Amino acid sequence: MPAASDRPEVITSIAALRERFPAGTVALVPTMGALHEGHLALVDRAAALVRAGATPGSTTPTPAPSAVVVSIFVNPLQFGPNEDLARYPRDLDADLDLLAGHGVTAVFHPDVDEMYPGGPSQTRVTAGDVGALWEGRSRPGHFDGMLTVVAKLLGIARPAVALFGQKDAQQLFLVQRMVRELDIATRIEGVTTVRAGDGLALSSRNRYLDPNERIAARALSAALEAAGSAGDRGIDAVIAAAQSVLMGEELVELDYLGIVDPATFRPVADDFRGPARVLIAAKVGPARLIDNADIYLNRAA
Ligand code: PAF
Repeated sequence: MPAASDRPEVITSIAALRERFPAGTVALVPTMGALHEGHLALVDRAAALVRAGATPGSTTPTPAPSAVVVSIFVNPLQFGPNEDLARYPRDLDADLDLLAGHGVTAVFHPDVDEMYPGGPSQTRVTAGDVGALWEGRSRPGHFDGMLTVVAKLLGIARPAVALFGQKDAQQLFLVQRMVRELDIATRIEGVTTVRAGDGLALSSRNRYLDPNERIAARALSAALEAAGSAGDRGIDAVIAAAQSVLMGEELVELDYLGIVDPATFRPVADDFRGPARVLIAAKVGPARLIDNADIYLNRAA
């Protein structure tokens, strides 16, 4: 059990956060809490950037952050009416215990009134047509809500760098595009997905799975592996390889399986050759899970 003194300080107001951390000094890890080892990988990378910035002669990109801030805010704007907003796991004490000893200076934990005084903001960032593909097709409005809160968090913390997991590949793509298109002075860094020993990508929603569903959920990463092995045989072979793994698992209900050009996040053309990304979303019992992997298409073509 970590000592209370190892836990990061908790800041709940926007004014206090801004006063404590001048612009350009923070490495921000935006989260909705229910933290796990995947989040710790983001935090550890953020702490490494802070350490590197403090090392004389280091070649860290400028400006180098001097503090790690983790935001914990379950953002109502990014949940649809039939989604899991009410039951989304919230346990601040457990989150603070997990963060203890990982070099986090502060946790920013505003309530909904602090973030959206007077109700949901009227001004929204729109994710455009890519925001309506893949996750966006199953979760209309999700990416507009996500981008809106990320824009707010970047405006509040004014971080030098913000870190996002590659498991949410479409989210990472859209945040990178938003920062570029809206000239936001924060560098966005993607961090490799952390997996359980059997391949399942870590996710806060994994805790909804019962033991049988947890075993079945391995099919997502197994399907990605099968897809990767079929890359040289082209798109149809990739889809068939992934589908045959997913169809062998009756507790897995596939939502979508797609192959995108990482530069556009749109489906690749039939003759596409080069690095691509395979996306999977599926319901396993009560949990909606997503995963993705890089593959190389048609190397031998
Ligand atoms: O990935 C998440 O946890 C959320 O979408 C984020 C980026 C914290 C915005 O609410």
